[in-house]
Amino acid sequence: MATIICPSLRNSVASLCFCILLYSVSVGARPATFLEDFRITWADSHIRQLDGGRAIQLVLDQSSGCGFASKRQYLFGRVSMKIKLVPGDSAGTVTAFYMNSDTDTVRDELDFEFLGNRTGQPYTVQTNIYAHGKGNREQRVNLWFDPAADFHTYTILWNHRQIVFYVDEVPIRVYKNNEAKGIPYPTRQPMGVYSTLWEADDWATRGGLEKINWSKAPFLAYYKDFDIEGCPVPGPASCASSTGNWWEGTTYQALNAIEYRRYKWVRINHMIYDYCTDKSRYPVTPPECVAGF
Ligand SMILES: *[C@@H]1O[C@H](CO)[C@@H](O)[C@H](O)[C@H]1NC(C)=O
Ligand SMILES: *[C@@H]1O[C@H](CO)[C@@H](O)[C@H](O)[C@H]1NC(C)=O
Repeated sequence: MATIICPSLRNSVASLCFCILLYSVSVGARPATFLEDFRITWADSHIRQLDGGRAIQLVLDQSSGCGFASKRQYLFGRVSMKIKLVPGDSAGTVTAFYMNSDTDTVRDELDFEFLGNRTGQPYTVQTNIYAHGKGNREQRVNLWFDPAADFHTYTILWNHRQIVFYVDEVPIRVYKNNEAKGIPYPTRQPMGVYSTLWEADDWATRGGLEKINWSKAPFLAYYKDFDIEGCPVPGPASCASSTGNWWEGTTYQALNAIEYRRYKWVRINHMIYDYCTDKSRYPVTPPECVAGF
């Protein structure tokens, strides 16, 4: 549910009360329906609403994949949704969940891409970060559970201090704001929230060796519990810089001890690729990889 941010709380007690009321209503436990926050951007014939719009089904078949996007853009915040990925033989399929500034040359983008696999082989989650037009910061983690057996929560937290990608409660990637050290960090451009399901068997599974098996189509993924909390743009200009936003709070400025332990566990046991250590691509280690955590 998109949060309504109250621009000026100083005017009067009455508006303050009204604001708190609005705020608590909009941030409340009720998950948003799909059409409250999103619109279909690709192939509406391939996106079905379920459960009164509280969940959706994405379809990929030989005629088309599909996609959707948030109606608004946001500057800082936290976006999460529950996704149940394509089951069984999903090799060659890619399900993506990302934020994107839609500004091609100076693009900011935060990507989750779920790369399918043969039955019984692990799904790979690829993350990437574009800041001010530069990407090529791929990391890959093989999931430690079957993401098609049930819904799991995938979250992108983006505040002034850090960007964190979470799989359920586990941080799988952290990108710190090291702008002070000359390392680009998205701070100025709002981003929309996007998702797509498509076929990419030229690269997705084992580097393109495993092809999609169309006799298994249609490929189906499910989404629910859409939750966007952030500063909508257009919206109150003061929102993004407000230190009162909960996602800017001290508990969100760095991983806590438990999160850090989980993060290390993923990196040691489940990380299969990190651009930071890919010497053939980067003979000189990229600065953000050594800038400190
Ligand atoms: C698919 O499974 C293979 C074999 O276990 C593994 O090497 C690979 O990382 C998995 N993921 C993808 C996207 O190929
Ligand atoms: C594709 O799926 C069909 C039906 O399950 C199976 O018979 C066939 O062997 C599969 N092809 C490949 C290349 O895995």
